[in-house]
Amino acid sequence: MITLGIETSCDETSIALVADGTSILANIVSSQIEIHRRFGGVVPEIASRKHLESISPLLREALSEARIEFRQIDQIAVTMGPGLVGALMVGIATAKALSWALKIPLLPVNHIEAHLSAGFLALNKPPSYPFLGLIVSGGHSNLVVADGNRKFELLGRTLDDAPGELFDKISRKLSLGYPGGPAIQKTGEGGDPMRYNLPRPMLGQGFAFSFSGLKTAALNLIRSEGEKLNVCDLCAALQAAVAETFSKKVVSALEKTGISRLVVSGGVAANKLLREYLAKVATKAQIELLIPPPQLCTDNAAMIASNGFFDASYWENDTTGLSVKADWQMGDNL
Ligand code: KG4
Ligand code: ZN
Repeated sequence: MITLGIETSCDETSIALVADGTSILANIVSSQIEIHRRFGGVVPEIASRKHLESISPLLREALSEARIEFRQIDQIAVTMGPGLVGALMVGIATAKALSWALKIPLLPVNHIEAHLSAGFLALNKPPSYPFLGLIVSGGHSNLVVADGNRKFELLGRTLDDAPGELFDKISRKLSLGYPGGPAIQKTGEGGDPMRYNLPRPMLGQGFAFSFSGLKTAALNLIRSEGEKLNVCDLCAALQAAVAETFSKKVVSALEKTGISRLVVSGGVAANKLLREYLAKVATKAQIELLIPPPQLCTDNAAMIASNGFFDASYWENDTTGLSVKADWQMGDNL
């Protein structure tokens, strides 16, 4: 069963071909980072235009890499939301046109839920439930219990900034570049995470996250230290604060739920220190930890194809009238 995956929710145009939901035949990601870099963040209108320019050539490239012809595609999975409206529309219009022309089903996929599919894609095996899911990205930060396809109990989400947003904003302030996460990781290499004492937000207060206080603390430090600021140590301290916050919340969630499998994904899950912290948590708690390789943590269409494949809930529906769902929350109906 060949699933074509289409992802255009933000600044990455991606087309993938995945066999049986787990085996990647092609997963091509065209990043717009260079275009948005000079603006310090994603410009929605530019993102939509770039998706439009890239999507057809990428589709051809993916088919050729996978050695697949149009008639061999069995179904199409596309990101319906959440994301930027204009950007999402490009992927959805493409998916609907192909679904109509090839007379094959169209599967609407929730982008945040799909991040978790990357964990199983990386292992080449179908999802095993239940698992604790942590999605850490530029726009989201959710801790959930997954009980089955599209069955999520939300334990907590961010009340304000997402962790990627925090890294992006601090990186911008320090003129380290965009996206901020990789820039802060690189700058913080070898730094002393103890030199600056940054808060670990909302520890001991349930499973919700909040990163705006940490952002303010870092911004205040940048201001007060001025020329004296050791940027390398600040970057190390910032990553340590984020990694420790997530690790401690995960430990409490594992204890509370008794679940023994943890899946972590989203762009920030590419962070080396966070991965190290979570690996320690998993060893200590003796649980199975699935964190996809960095290229599957960030936005890609293979995770969309995989999620569509394992989620049969919309197959019966007429999807021709489907449209963008820019604020689609995990677990909510379309
Ligand atoms: O999941 P993603 O590709 O897009 C969204 O759905 O938001 O996540 C992008 C975010 C950006 O904020 C970026 O700075 C962050 O992931 N990121 C990282 C790393 N690589 C990407 N954050 C920390 N460390 C990294 N290595
Ligand atoms: Zn994402």
